[in-house]
Amino acid sequence: MLPKILRPIAIIGAGGIVKEAHLPAYKKAGFEVKAIFDRDLSKAKELAEAFNIPKVCANIEELIEQAEKHQCIYDIALPASAFLSVLSSLPKGAPVLLQKPMGEDITQAKAILALCQERNLLAGVNFQLRHAPYIVKAKQLIAQGLIGQLHDVDVRMNVFTPWELWEFLFGLPRMEILYHSIHYIDMIRYFLGNPQRVLAKTTKPPHIKNLSSTRSSIIMDYGAEIRANINTNHGHNFGLKHQESYFKFEGTEGAIKIKIGVYLDYPKGLPDEFEYFSVKEGNCWQKVKINGTWFPDAFIGPMAGLMCKLENREYTFINSVEDAFHTMELVEECYLSSGL
Ligand SMILES: NC(=O)c1ccc[n+]([C@@H]2O[C@H](COP(=O)([O-])OP(=O)(O)OC[C@H]3O[C@@H](n4cnc5c(N)ncnc54)[C@H](O)[C@@H]3O)[C@@H](O)[C@H]2O)c1
Repeated sequence: MLPKILRPIAIIGAGGIVKEAHLPAYKKAGFEVKAIFDRDLSKAKELAEAFNIPKVCANIEELIEQAEKHQCIYDIALPASAFLSVLSSLPKGAPVLLQKPMGEDITQAKAILALCQERNLLAGVNFQLRHAPYIVKAKQLIAQGLIGQLHDVDVRMNVFTPWELWEFLFGLPRMEILYHSIHYIDMIRYFLGNPQRVLAKTTKPPHIKNLSSTRSSIIMDYGAEIRANINTNHGHNFGLKHQESYFKFEGTEGAIKIKIGVYLDYPKGLPDEFEYFSVKEGNCWQKVKINGTWFPDAFIGPMAGLMCKLENREYTFINSVEDAFHTMELVEECYLSSGL
């Protein structure tokens, strides 16, 4: 859903995700970006030029001045460790969208939530997978009853991810679940709500120095009749033949399988595929063409949702910090379960 009034945006951070996803998505949606700031000025300048952003700010104070002048939403896309200090400098009552994760651990997540509430910030976290066009479609089919009662969710990634693209991830005590599988935990919560508990084991690659876990097995426990599992291995550097990247949703009367192209042959990617089977619709697998994909299209959703919330405080904003905090609680439980 798009808002009636488009609010302008001020961006803090000019890294990879802003270049590859935020700005292309906002361009598609017609959202206007008024100002950008990064402590590496050259990166901010490069993006300002490429995306016609009128103001490159030299520091956070200047960014805030611009944002207040134009009534902007603050869009923060920094490493999670920088969130608390940046948030505490924003004016009271400001609308703000934070990149995921919401802090590096549950202590930071609690502090972020408390700060947002104390300063009355209208805040959200960019768990944008909920808005990926194939997830929107899956949600619709399930709501229409086409696969019956959902009782099985399977996320499987056996891919090769070149982690050196994200320098800031090296040396962190927590990595794969906090920065990657977190999307799947949040997505499964979107379909099934909060689980009773989670069990997890996350594992370090023996041959990559200074990088913590890159493989995780997570069980989200929804009781006796629902299975929800996440299985990731980012180290499959042995050709495309056996790379896998999919979500599968199974119900009592059908199933949905989505091939997630972005992680295959990364960073080139392969096309997504969306198929479903319904006993109500011919008892056979059908392919559906989905317009748009996770990167960048899904990035429209959290920002549009925040604009809708600004317009109408009764609007259900599915990416609120309050909701995101539950995903952070599960991430913490996963690490505790894994002995970390
Ligand atoms: N799908 C997703 O939602 C997704 C994907 C990738 C990254 N991310 C998140 O986005 C954030 C940024 O990731 P990225 O891939 O763009 O990283 P990046 O390393 O490419 O960019 C980070 C940028 O932040 C700047 N920076 C760091 N601290 C700063 C500070 N205190 N003030 C101003 N600028 C500062 C750096 O100069 C850099 O340009 C991370 O939190 C990451 O988890 C989300």
